[in-house]
Amino acid sequence: MTTTTCESNSIYPVRWQDNKVWLIDQTRLPMEYGEVEITSSEAMARAIETMIVRGAPAIGVAAAYGMVLGAQEIKTDQKEQFLADLTRIADRLAQTRPTAVNLFWAIERMLKVAQESGPEVAVITKNLLETAQNIQKEDVETCRAIGRHGLLALPEQPEKLTILTHCNTGSLATASYGTALGVIRSAWTAGRLIQVYADETRPRLQGAKLTAWECAREGIPVTVITDSMAAHCMQQKLIDAVIVGADRIAANGDTANKIGTYSLAVLAKAHHLPFYVAAPLSTVDFSLKDGTGIPIEQRDRAEIYQVGTTTLCPRDVNFYNPAFDVTPAALITAIITEKGAVTPAELIFLQDS
Ligand code: MRU
Repeated sequence: MTTTTCESNSIYPVRWQDNKVWLIDQTRLPMEYGEVEITSSEAMARAIETMIVRGAPAIGVAAAYGMVLGAQEIKTDQKEQFLADLTRIADRLAQTRPTAVNLFWAIERMLKVAQESGPEVAVITKNLLETAQNIQKEDVETCRAIGRHGLLALPEQPEKLTILTHCNTGSLATASYGTALGVIRSAWTAGRLIQVYADETRPRLQGAKLTAWECAREGIPVTVITDSMAAHCMQQKLIDAVIVGADRIAANGDTANKIGTYSLAVLAKAHHLPFYVAAPLSTVDFSLKDGTGIPIEQRDRAEIYQVGTTTLCPRDVNFYNPAFDVTPAALITAIITEKGAVTPAELIFLQDS
Protein backbone atom coordinates (compact mmCIF):
# COMPACT_ATOMS: atom_id res chain seq x y z
CA MET A 1 0.00 0.00 0.00
CA THR A 2 1.59 3.31 -1.05
CA THR A 3 0.33 6.86 -0.84
CA THR A 4 0.35 9.82 -3.17
CA THR A 5 -0.94 13.38 -2.96
CA CYS A 6 -3.96 14.08 -5.16
CA GLU A 7 -4.25 17.42 -6.95
CA SER A 8 -7.66 16.87 -8.56
CA ASN A 9 -10.42 19.36 -7.76
CA SER A 10 -13.35 16.93 -7.84
CA ILE A 11 -13.84 14.42 -5.07
CA TYR A 12 -13.78 10.79 -6.21
CA PRO A 13 -13.13 8.60 -3.16
CA VAL A 14 -12.50 5.56 -5.37
CA ARG A 15 -10.55 5.72 -8.66
CA TRP A 16 -9.51 2.96 -11.06
CA GLN A 17 -6.28 3.75 -12.86
CA ASP A 18 -3.45 1.64 -14.32
CA ASN A 19 -5.09 -1.64 -13.26
CA LYS A 20 -5.26 -0.64 -9.62
CA VAL A 21 -7.47 1.36 -7.30
CA TRP A 22 -6.73 4.70 -5.68
CA LEU A 23 -8.68 5.53 -2.53
CA ILE A 24 -8.80 8.93 -0.84
CA ASP A 25 -7.55 8.15 2.66
CA GLN A 26 -10.52 9.35 4.71
CA THR A 27 -8.75 8.56 7.99
CA ARG A 28 -6.32 11.43 7.36
CA LEU A 29 -8.79 14.15 6.34
CA PRO A 30 -9.10 17.05 6.92
CA MET A 31 -5.44 17.49 7.92
CA GLU A 32 -4.07 15.72 4.85
CA TYR A 33 -5.61 14.96 1.47
CA GLY A 34 -3.92 11.99 -0.09
CA GLU A 35 -4.67 8.79 -1.98
CA VAL A 36 -3.74 5.25 -1.08
CA GLU A 37 -2.86 2.78 -3.82
CA ILE A 38 -4.71 -0.53 -3.52
CA THR A 39 -3.31 -3.40 -5.56
CA SER A 40 -4.95 -6.52 -4.09
CA SER A 41 -8.37 -7.70 -2.96
CA GLU A 42 -7.01 -8.24 0.55
CA ALA A 43 -5.69 -4.65 0.70
CA MET A 44 -9.16 -3.49 -0.38
CA ALA A 45 -10.81 -5.56 2.36
CA ARG A 46 -8.47 -4.00 4.92
CA ALA A 47 -9.12 -0.49 3.55
CA ILE A 48 -12.86 -1.01 4.05
CA GLU A 49 -12.37 -2.43 7.57
CA THR A 50 -10.11 0.42 8.64
CA MET A 51 -12.40 3.00 7.02
CA ILE A 52 -9.88 4.44 4.59
CA VAL A 53 -13.00 4.22 2.43
CA ARG A 54 -16.39 4.44 4.16
CA GLY A 55 -20.00 5.42 3.53
CA ALA A 56 -22.46 2.85 2.19
CA PRO A 57 -22.38 3.57 -1.59
CA ALA A 58 -18.59 4.17 -1.59
CA ILE A 59 -18.07 0.84 0.16
CA GLY A 60 -20.13 -0.82 -2.58
CA VAL A 61 -18.00 0.75 -5.31
CA ALA A 62 -14.79 -0.14 -3.48
CA ALA A 63 -15.88 -3.77 -3.01
CA ALA A 64 -16.75 -4.03 -6.71
CA TYR A 65 -13.21 -2.94 -7.62
CA GLY A 66 -11.90 -5.28 -4.91
CA MET A 67 -13.52 -8.08 -6.89
CA VAL A 68 -11.76 -6.87 -10.06
CA LEU A 69 -8.42 -6.90 -8.24
CA GLY A 70 -9.29 -10.37 -6.97
CA ALA A 71 -10.12 -11.56 -10.50
CA GLN A 72 -6.68 -10.35 -11.64
CA GLU A 73 -5.08 -12.41 -8.85
CA ILE A 74 -6.67 -15.71 -9.90
CA LYS A 75 -4.30 -17.94 -11.84
CA THR A 76 -6.49 -20.30 -13.85
CA ASP A 77 -8.17 -20.36 -17.25
CA GLN A 78 -10.88 -22.78 -16.07
CA LYS A 79 -14.16 -20.98 -15.41
CA GLU A 80 -15.24 -23.36 -12.64
CA GLN A 81 -12.01 -22.87 -10.68
CA PHE A 82 -12.13 -19.13 -11.38
CA LEU A 83 -15.65 -18.87 -9.94
CA ALA A 84 -14.66 -20.86 -6.85
CA ASP A 85 -11.68 -18.54 -6.22
CA LEU A 86 -13.75 -15.43 -6.93
CA THR A 87 -16.41 -16.58 -4.46
CA ARG A 88 -13.72 -16.95 -1.78
CA ILE A 89 -12.60 -13.36 -2.50
CA ALA A 90 -16.23 -12.19 -2.40
CA ASP A 91 -16.66 -13.86 1.00
CA ARG A 92 -13.61 -12.04 2.37
CA LEU A 93 -14.86 -8.66 1.11
CA ALA A 94 -18.33 -9.40 2.52
CA GLN A 95 -16.83 -9.92 5.99
CA THR A 96 -15.50 -6.37 6.21
CA ARG A 97 -18.53 -4.39 7.43
CA PRO A 98 -21.92 -5.92 8.17
CA THR A 99 -24.46 -3.07 8.11
CA ALA A 100 -24.21 -1.22 4.79
CA VAL A 101 -26.15 -3.39 2.36
CA ASN A 102 -24.58 -1.71 -0.68
CA LEU A 103 -21.49 -3.83 0.01
CA PHE A 104 -23.43 -7.09 -0.42
CA TRP A 105 -25.49 -5.66 -3.28
CA ALA A 106 -22.32 -4.80 -5.25
CA ILE A 107 -20.61 -8.12 -4.50
CA GLU A 108 -23.70 -10.10 -5.59
CA ARG A 109 -23.97 -8.07 -8.80
CA MET A 110 -20.32 -8.79 -9.58
CA LEU A 111 -20.64 -12.52 -8.87
CA LYS A 112 -23.73 -12.74 -11.08
CA VAL A 113 -21.85 -11.11 -13.97
CA ALA A 114 -19.02 -13.62 -13.55
CA GLN A 115 -21.44 -16.55 -13.48
CA GLU A 116 -23.39 -15.32 -16.51
CA SER A 117 -20.34 -14.44 -18.65
CA GLY A 118 -19.11 -16.98 -21.20
CA PRO A 119 -16.43 -19.63 -20.48
CA GLU A 120 -13.33 -17.48 -21.12
CA VAL A 121 -11.71 -16.15 -17.95
CA ALA A 122 -10.24 -13.13 -19.78
CA VAL A 123 -13.74 -12.14 -20.92
CA ILE A 124 -15.15 -12.61 -17.41
CA THR A 125 -12.40 -10.37 -15.98
CA LYS A 126 -13.11 -7.73 -18.61
CA ASN A 127 -16.86 -7.90 -17.82
CA LEU A 128 -16.13 -7.56 -14.11
CA LEU A 129 -14.14 -4.37 -14.68
CA GLU A 130 -16.90 -2.94 -16.87
CA THR A 131 -19.48 -3.77 -14.19
CA ALA A 132 -17.46 -2.10 -11.41
CA GLN A 133 -17.10 0.99 -13.61
CA ASN A 134 -20.84 0.95 -14.31
CA ILE A 135 -21.66 0.66 -10.59
CA GLN A 136 -19.49 3.71 -10.02
CA LYS A 137 -20.95 5.75 -12.91
CA GLU A 138 -24.52 4.80 -11.98
CA ASP A 139 -23.96 5.91 -8.41
CA VAL A 140 -22.97 9.41 -9.50
CA GLU A 141 -26.14 9.64 -11.64
CA THR A 142 -28.21 8.20 -8.80
CA CYS A 143 -26.87 10.75 -6.34
CA ARG A 144 -27.64 13.60 -8.71
CA ALA A 145 -31.20 12.30 -9.12
CA ILE A 146 -31.55 12.07 -5.32
CA GLY A 147 -30.38 15.68 -5.17
CA ARG A 148 -33.06 16.76 -7.67
CA HIS A 149 -35.88 14.84 -5.96
CA GLY A 150 -34.72 15.99 -2.55
CA LEU A 151 -34.89 19.62 -3.58
CA LEU A 152 -38.56 19.17 -4.51
CA ALA A 153 -39.30 17.34 -1.24
CA LEU A 154 -37.95 20.08 1.02
CA PRO A 155 -40.46 22.20 2.96
CA GLU A 156 -41.62 25.27 1.02
CA GLN A 157 -41.25 27.51 4.06
CA PRO A 158 -39.06 29.17 5.04
CA GLU A 159 -37.76 30.01 1.63
CA LYS A 160 -34.15 29.68 2.82
CA LEU A 161 -33.47 26.70 5.02
CA THR A 162 -31.01 25.68 7.67
CA ILE A 163 -30.54 21.92 7.48
CA LEU A 164 -29.05 19.66 10.12
CA THR A 165 -27.20 16.56 8.96
CA HIS A 166 -25.32 13.71 10.59
CA CYS A 167 -22.16 11.78 9.72
CA ASN A 168 -20.82 12.24 6.18
CA THR A 169 -23.04 11.49 3.21
CA GLY A 170 -21.23 13.53 0.60
CA SER A 171 -18.91 12.80 -2.31
CA LEU A 172 -16.59 10.96 0.06
CA ALA A 173 -19.33 8.52 1.06
CA THR A 174 -20.51 7.77 -2.49
CA ALA A 175 -18.98 7.54 -5.96
CA SER A 176 -19.25 11.34 -5.92
CA TYR A 177 -21.83 14.11 -5.13
CA GLY A 178 -23.50 12.41 -2.17
CA THR A 179 -26.95 11.44 -0.89
CA ALA A 180 -28.13 13.62 2.02
CA LEU A 181 -25.26 16.01 1.37
CA GLY A 182 -26.18 15.81 -2.32
CA VAL A 183 -29.65 17.15 -1.46
CA ILE A 184 -27.99 19.87 0.62
CA ARG A 185 -25.67 20.63 -2.30
CA SER A 186 -28.69 20.89 -4.65
CA ALA A 187 -30.47 23.17 -2.18
CA TRP A 188 -27.39 25.38 -2.00
CA THR A 189 -27.11 25.59 -5.79
CA ALA A 190 -30.84 26.41 -6.03
CA GLY A 191 -30.49 29.22 -3.48
CA ARG A 192 -32.67 27.43 -0.91
CA LEU A 193 -30.03 26.93 1.76
CA ILE A 194 -28.72 29.39 4.32
CA GLN A 195 -26.41 26.94 6.02
CA VAL A 196 -25.78 23.40 7.19
CA TYR A 197 -25.45 22.30 10.77
CA ALA A 198 -23.14 19.28 10.88
CA ASP A 199 -23.23 17.00 13.91
CA GLU A 200 -19.66 16.12 14.78
CA THR A 201 -20.76 12.43 14.88
CA ARG A 202 -18.93 10.72 17.72
CA PRO A 203 -17.00 8.55 17.93
CA ARG A 204 -15.27 8.77 14.54
CA LEU A 205 -16.21 12.40 13.82
CA GLN A 206 -17.23 11.97 10.19
CA GLY A 207 -19.40 15.13 10.48
CA ALA A 208 -16.72 17.33 12.00
CA LYS A 209 -13.93 16.01 9.82
CA LEU A 210 -15.47 15.07 6.49
CA THR A 211 -18.79 16.93 6.10
CA ALA A 212 -17.26 20.17 7.35
CA TRP A 213 -14.32 19.65 4.97
CA GLU A 214 -16.57 18.99 1.96
CA CYS A 215 -18.81 21.99 2.71
CA ALA A 216 -15.93 24.37 3.38
CA ARG A 217 -14.24 23.26 0.19
CA GLU A 218 -17.35 24.23 -1.81
CA GLY A 219 -18.17 27.41 0.07
CA ILE A 220 -21.35 25.98 1.64
CA PRO A 221 -21.71 27.68 5.04
CA VAL A 222 -21.37 25.03 7.72
CA THR A 223 -21.62 25.13 11.51
CA VAL A 224 -20.24 22.13 13.39
CA ILE A 225 -21.98 21.19 16.63
CA THR A 226 -21.37 18.36 19.05
CA ASP A 227 -24.03 15.65 18.88
CA SER A 228 -25.50 16.67 22.23
CA MET A 229 -26.30 20.19 20.96
CA ALA A 230 -28.92 19.15 18.41
CA ALA A 231 -31.90 19.37 20.82
CA HIS A 232 -30.87 22.82 21.96
CA CYS A 233 -30.45 24.04 18.37
CA MET A 234 -33.93 22.79 17.48
CA GLN A 235 -35.44 24.37 20.58
CA GLN A 236 -33.77 27.64 19.63
CA LYS A 237 -35.44 27.33 16.19
CA LEU A 238 -32.10 27.26 14.41
CA ILE A 239 -33.01 24.20 12.34
CA ASP A 240 -35.72 23.86 9.63
CA ALA A 241 -35.20 20.25 8.54
CA VAL A 242 -33.00 17.22 9.17
CA ILE A 243 -31.55 15.13 6.32
CA VAL A 244 -29.49 12.00 6.85
CA GLY A 245 -28.22 9.12 4.74
CA ALA A 246 -28.71 5.40 5.28
CA ASP A 247 -26.70 2.21 5.44
CA ARG A 248 -29.61 -0.18 5.16
CA ILE A 249 -33.35 0.45 4.86
CA ALA A 250 -35.82 -2.36 5.54
CA ALA A 251 -38.88 -2.85 3.32
CA ASN A 252 -41.09 -0.98 5.80
CA GLY A 253 -38.76 2.05 5.84
CA ASP A 254 -36.98 1.40 9.16
CA THR A 255 -33.54 2.89 8.55
CA ALA A 256 -30.11 1.98 9.86
CA ASN A 257 -27.69 4.87 9.75
CA LYS A 258 -24.77 6.21 11.77
CA ILE A 259 -25.21 5.99 15.52
CA GLY A 260 -27.02 9.10 16.74
CA THR A 261 -29.45 9.25 13.80
CA TYR A 262 -32.30 7.77 15.84
CA SER A 263 -31.96 10.44 18.53
CA LEU A 264 -32.12 13.13 15.84
CA ALA A 265 -35.33 11.62 14.48
CA VAL A 266 -36.91 11.61 17.96
CA LEU A 267 -35.81 15.21 18.46
CA ALA A 268 -37.16 16.25 15.05
CA LYS A 269 -40.55 14.72 15.91
CA ALA A 270 -40.60 16.54 19.27
CA HIS A 271 -39.89 19.83 17.53
CA HIS A 272 -42.26 19.25 14.58
CA LEU A 273 -39.43 19.29 12.06
CA PRO A 274 -39.34 17.18 8.88
CA PHE A 275 -36.89 14.31 9.02
CA TYR A 276 -35.67 12.99 5.65
CA VAL A 277 -33.59 9.96 4.71
CA ALA A 278 -31.75 10.23 1.36
CA ALA A 279 -30.45 7.00 -0.14
CA PRO A 280 -30.20 5.04 -3.38
CA LEU A 281 -32.49 2.05 -3.87
CA SER A 282 -29.37 -0.14 -3.59
CA THR A 283 -29.48 0.74 0.13
CA VAL A 284 -32.95 -0.77 0.51
CA ASP A 285 -32.97 -4.38 1.65
CA PHE A 286 -36.40 -5.54 0.53
CA SER A 287 -35.66 -8.99 2.00
CA LEU A 288 -36.01 -7.54 5.51
CA LYS A 289 -39.57 -6.75 6.53
CA ASP A 290 -38.44 -4.33 9.26
CA GLY A 291 -35.37 -2.95 10.97
CA THR A 292 -35.06 -5.67 13.62
CA GLY A 293 -33.22 -7.86 11.09
CA ILE A 294 -30.53 -5.27 10.27
CA PRO A 295 -27.12 -6.37 11.63
CA ILE A 296 -25.50 -3.59 13.64
CA GLU A 297 -21.73 -3.37 13.44
CA GLN A 298 -19.92 -3.27 16.79
CA ARG A 299 -16.58 -1.49 16.55
CA ASP A 300 -13.46 -1.33 18.66
CA ARG A 301 -13.74 0.15 22.16
CA ALA A 302 -10.67 2.30 21.44
CA GLU A 303 -12.82 4.47 19.16
CA ILE A 304 -14.53 5.71 22.34
CA TYR A 305 -11.71 5.97 24.84
CA GLN A 306 -9.17 7.47 22.44
CA VAL A 307 -8.98 10.33 19.95
CA GLY A 308 -5.84 10.10 17.86
CA THR A 309 -3.18 9.22 20.41
CA THR A 310 -4.97 10.94 23.29
CA THR A 311 -6.73 8.75 25.85
CA LEU A 312 -9.99 10.29 27.09
CA CYS A 313 -11.28 7.78 29.65
CA PRO A 314 -10.00 5.22 32.09
CA ARG A 315 -9.46 2.13 29.94
CA ASP A 316 -10.46 -0.41 32.59
CA VAL A 317 -14.19 0.38 32.37
CA ASN A 318 -16.76 -1.09 29.97
CA PHE A 319 -17.41 0.43 26.56
CA TYR A 320 -20.26 -0.14 24.13
CA ASN A 321 -19.65 0.99 20.55
CA PRO A 322 -22.46 0.20 18.10
CA ALA A 323 -21.63 1.98 14.82
CA PHE A 324 -25.26 2.33 13.69
CA ASP A 325 -28.78 2.62 15.06
CA VAL A 326 -32.20 2.00 13.54
CA THR A 327 -34.71 4.82 13.14
CA PRO A 328 -38.30 3.54 13.08
CA ALA A 329 -40.17 4.35 9.86
CA ALA A 330 -42.82 6.22 11.85
CA LEU A 331 -40.31 8.99 12.55
CA ILE A 332 -39.36 9.48 8.89
CA THR A 333 -41.16 12.14 6.83
CA ALA A 334 -39.88 10.87 3.49
CA ILE A 335 -37.25 8.64 1.95
CA ILE A 336 -35.61 10.39 -0.99
CA THR A 337 -34.41 7.96 -3.67
CA GLU A 338 -33.31 8.30 -7.29
CA LYS A 339 -36.89 7.39 -8.28
CA GLY A 340 -38.46 10.12 -6.16
CA ALA A 341 -39.31 10.95 -2.56
CA VAL A 342 -41.80 8.57 -0.93
CA THR A 343 -43.23 7.96 2.51
CA PRO A 344 -41.80 4.87 4.21
CA ALA A 345 -45.10 3.05 3.51
CA GLU A 346 -44.75 3.76 -0.22
CA LEU A 347 -41.17 2.46 -0.42
CA ILE A 348 -42.32 -1.05 -1.28
CA PHE A 349 -43.81 0.25 -4.55
CA LEU A 350 -40.28 1.16 -5.72
CA GLN A 351 -39.13 -2.46 -5.54
CA ASP A 352 -38.13 -3.60 -9.06
CA SER A 353 -39.19 -0.19 -10.45
O1 MRU B 1 -19.30 4.20 9.40
P1 MRU B 1 -19.46 4.99 8.14
O2 MRU B 1 -18.69 6.26 8.12
O3 MRU B 1 -19.24 4.13 6.92
O4 MRU B 1 -21.01 5.38 8.16
C1 MRU B 1 -21.53 6.16 7.13
C2 MRU B 1 -22.95 6.51 7.35
O5 MRU B 1 -23.56 6.12 8.31
C3 MRU B 1 -23.62 7.28 6.26
O6 MRU B 1 -24.62 8.09 6.78
C4 MRU B 1 -24.28 6.29 5.28
O7 MRU B 1 -23.35 5.32 4.88
C5 MRU B 1 -24.81 6.96 4.10
S1 MRU B 1 -23.52 7.53 3.03
C6 MRU B 1 -24.17 8.22 1.66
